[in-house]
Amino acid sequence: MGIQRLGIIGSGIMGAGIAEVAAKAGIEVVLRSRKQETADAMVASLEKSLGKQVEKGRIEEAAAKEVLARVSATSDLQALAGCDLVLESVVEDLAVKQALFGELGGIVSDTAIIATNTSTLPVVELATVVPNPERVCGIHFFNPAPAMALVEIIRPITASDATVAAATEFAQACGKTTVEVQDRAGFIVNCLLFPYLNNAVRMLENGTANRDDIDAAMKGGCNFPMGPLALLDLVGLDTSLSILDALYAEFRDPNYAAMPTLRRLVAAGHLGRKTKRGFYDY
Ligand SMILES: NC(=O)c1ccc[n+]([C@@H]2O[C@H](COP(=O)([O-])OP(=O)(O)OC[C@H]3O[C@@H](n4cnc5c(N)ncnc54)[C@H](O)[C@@H]3O)[C@@H](O)[C@H]2O)c1
Repeated sequence: MGIQRLGIIGSGIMGAGIAEVAAKAGIEVVLRSRKQETADAMVASLEKSLGKQVEKGRIEEAAAKEVLARVSATSDLQALAGCDLVLESVVEDLAVKQALFGELGGIVSDTAIIATNTSTLPVVELATVVPNPERVCGIHFFNPAPAMALVEIIRPITASDATVAAATEFAQACGKTTVEVQDRAGFIVNCLLFPYLNNAVRMLENGTANRDDIDAAMKGGCNFPMGPLALLDLVGLDTSLSILDALYAEFRDPNYAAMPTLRRLVAAGHLGRKTKRGFYDY
């Protein structure tokens, strides 16, 4: 039967994007945020985004209404009890995610899958806090979720084949291309991407080139759609720092040791696009 009812926890960039993708794929979505106002605001912003898509002729008005009708908002974790899959997408912090998984373990049914959208954290350390660790895996969407084609399916050593198969089927039903990857920090994409992004900050710090030239060089020279410093701002500098710290903790490779500028920007609360200030002003 596949996944028919999806719970999403976290109302940040990723939670909102995944909600749109899943609702468009015909899946009922329950969005859970700690505050009801925030959860409601996500639905309101989805409505606005769908309205723009109707204006541009990308979706029929009736279809947009159907998409919106599939999404409900709650602040109550218990409202996720009837979901076939719960995907958490809260802040990249192991202790926060473990506490959440601990609560979820007592709420969802024995047959439900609990998944994480973590970019780097060890999925097995989330699996071991729930009663059915075989039903936990990673489902890693990319940012912005509606536009990016890939989803990484992360297989911790505790996951059953059925869990990985169901997660893969869900991501494909959302129209995404999937790759399966073992539970190692950074999986495939971030493990390869973040040394590059971190080294762009190193280059800025040591004065090799300025911000605009570093970004222009990688766009024009490698045909990348955006430069590394603009991409860090898009990902979020706090999330980027957490990713580098987790990669460094796992592999001890100096390329993963976050550059001081990144740490200082995060300390200052300049987190990139989401705070309208990072390497660029927005
Ligand atoms: N930003 C990206 O490019 C990207 C891409 C793929 C995956 N991810 C992953 O998705 C997850 C969410 O990232 P995001 O970019 O949406 O972050 P975000 O900063 O936009 O949102 C984080 C969310 O976590 C919530 N939160 C913060 N502290 C919390 C707590 N103590 N308890 C419960 N909720 C809390 C916030 O209210 C917010 O809703 C992270 O695990 C991140 O690694 C991010």
